[in-house]
Amino acid sequence: MRKKIVAGNWKMNKNLSDTKVLLSELKAQLAGVSEAEIVVAPTYVNLYSASEALKGSGVKVAAQNMHQAENGAYTGEISADMLKDIGVKTVILGHSERRAYFGETDALLVEKVNTALKHGIKVIFCFGEELDDRKSDNHFNVVESQLKNGLFHIDAANWKNIVLAYEPVWAIGTGETASPEQAQEMHAFIRSTIEKAFDATVADEVSILYGGSVKPNNAVEIFAKPDVDGGLIGGASLDAESFAAIAKAI
Ligand code: 13P
Repeated sequence: MRKKIVAGNWKMNKNLSDTKVLLSELKAQLAGVSEAEIVVAPTYVNLYSASEALKGSGVKVAAQNMHQAENGAYTGEISADMLKDIGVKTVILGHSERRAYFGETDALLVEKVNTALKHGIKVIFCFGEELDDRKSDNHFNVVESQLKNGLFHIDAANWKNIVLAYEPVWAIGTGETASPEQAQEMHAFIRSTIEKAFDATVADEVSILYGGSVKPNNAVEIFAKPDVDGGLIGGASLDAESFAAIAKAI
């Protein structure tokens, strides 16, 4: 059975003091929530303290990005080994903000995915169409090509370390979420695309999260869809009460 996952992508928010407060509130609010795996992704500088603070809580810590090289002269970058060494075993790759503002291409993501998998780091792989793609009815093609170009080179055995996050760009931070039907339609398409490229077991086992303006008041309906296995939450993950409410919506 594939896992239900609710992950919070904190983006460039929360300094160390704020991080400590939010994590302690989250631990209290999420105690007893066992229906979903809970993941939080604070900014790099707070990953170590987050991973220490969450030891034994069951809440996992993810990085928001990672460099593809093992080490070396890459000023400002962070390696897979550095993440693993501080207890971080999950990384978000391919977020639309990384693609749009930092020029991350499918080819670069292939390298990053390979490095993460080589180190046994689980990848939350993000992709999703822009508004123009949807308006021109090109959204399935865009999603299919992002998946193929970024992930379809891996072995079937490696899919156990992949979580997919479908995040339509037009729904991120806009307050305009995909309807539960739109999310389900795309998630079913993603699963069938994976089944064609790999097999039914891989497709059935992979968790596909929805991201884009998920809030406590829309999470229940979205998560109720059969191919939606949880969410990648931005803004609403910055408040313990709303993130816990979303986690409980699973
Ligand atoms: P919002 O929930 O703020 O729309 O952000 C979604 C997102 O980008 C998560 O990675």
